[in-house]
Amino acid sequence: MHALTKHGLAVLVAGMGMGGAALAQKAEVVHWWTSGGESAAVQELAAAYKAAGGAWVDTAISGGENARNTTINRIAGGNAPTVAQFNTSLQYHEVVLEGMLNNMDAVAKEGNWDKILPEPIKKFVKVDGHYFAMPVNIHNPSWFWYSKAVLAKAGVKAEPQNMSEFFAALDKIKASGAIPLALGGQAWQEGILFNAILHTSGGADLYKQFYSSTDGKVAQSPAFKKVLSDFKRLKAYVDPGSPNRDWNVATAMLISNKAGFQVMGDWAKGEFAVAKQTAGKDFGCFPGWGAKAPYMLEGDVFVFPKSKDPEVIKAQQLFARVATSPAVQVAFNTKKGSIPIRTDVDMGALDICSQQGVTALKDPARHLPAPTQLASPEKKGLLDDAVTKFWNTDQSVDDVAKVLAAALKG
Ligand code: GAL
Repeated sequence: MHALTKHGLAVLVAGMGMGGAALAQKAEVVHWWTSGGESAAVQELAAAYKAAGGAWVDTAISGGENARNTTINRIAGGNAPTVAQFNTSLQYHEVVLEGMLNNMDAVAKEGNWDKILPEPIKKFVKVDGHYFAMPVNIHNPSWFWYSKAVLAKAGVKAEPQNMSEFFAALDKIKASGAIPLALGGQAWQEGILFNAILHTSGGADLYKQFYSSTDGKVAQSPAFKKVLSDFKRLKAYVDPGSPNRDWNVATAMLISNKAGFQVMGDWAKGEFAVAKQTAGKDFGCFPGWGAKAPYMLEGDVFVFPKSKDPEVIKAQQLFARVATSPAVQVAFNTKKGSIPIRTDVDMGALDICSQQGVTALKDPARHLPAPTQLASPEKKGLLDDAVTKFWNTDQSVDDVAKVLAAALKG
């Protein structure tokens, strides 16, 4: 088990023969980590890469979809970055099929990835027997966060255990004068909220039926229509400033006790950390209703665009070796709010949110694939477009159900 200080990190990395001896392998890294917490976390990767003798060129692009589209366009245009971020998902599988990525099999063998990576992560980074992506963390995109002060002031004494208790809590917060639900009005965030209601209010089975449906019938079922109406009912608890709000600005509304709840991934913890707020004291967290709630497993990977240039390949391999090393996994994930991709590191004293995450990771019966792992980017785009239109207009439940059914039929 490894729990190292920064000094220990530098010593370890030098000891791994990656000190001054290595030429300055230049890596241009495309990612979308631009918030306070995300920047603090990515700085840990950059510092470790430089400590290993590499030269880090940072290309931060705000917004996941923007960053991914830029990477794919640059690969197609023959101007690929050295390394680029995607989600642990189907997002880059098309690019793999087109033979546009280098694999990291040599580093994976050296680092024993077959053994140290959890199965739900490995199945999306090892494609056709080759490691075409390198996982860097495990995030659950579907947590409920809340301000302890706002809920206390509103008289909400316990975490809701079902939708009716959630609506009752939101009503109390509204009556107290605070904003009940902080939401960034962007399609991907509305999608996170919808999917959270689908797997909590509708249940894990309905969620999986929806994403695996090829005839679309499930979208017309009474159970699914109940999820749609529960989802739309939440609109009344969101403030008018929501449209186009960034996710971390919504998290800041909890940090400043202006809002009660936010449904967002556990990258939000990076924002609480930067604000020096403590889980269990300043904010609370739960992944769904009750102690055995389904637990969505996603996160981030880096891919390595095809290159025959030995210097590029050396930089890509150095990046993969550094980013998956035990010390860097601890340093990066602590700042990012995520769980390490290796099961042999000690994150030290875990807060009550990470403890719930690690417990859920050990219980395969609770594991839930993320929508990006169940639907192709094209299909997920159609579903997200339908959901965001339903959220932002007076479209009826019956009508959006028809649109979703058609999108599922493909
Ligand atoms: C997610 C990603 C996280 C996070 C978030 C918001 O897709 O997995 O690392 O930062 O986007 O930018």
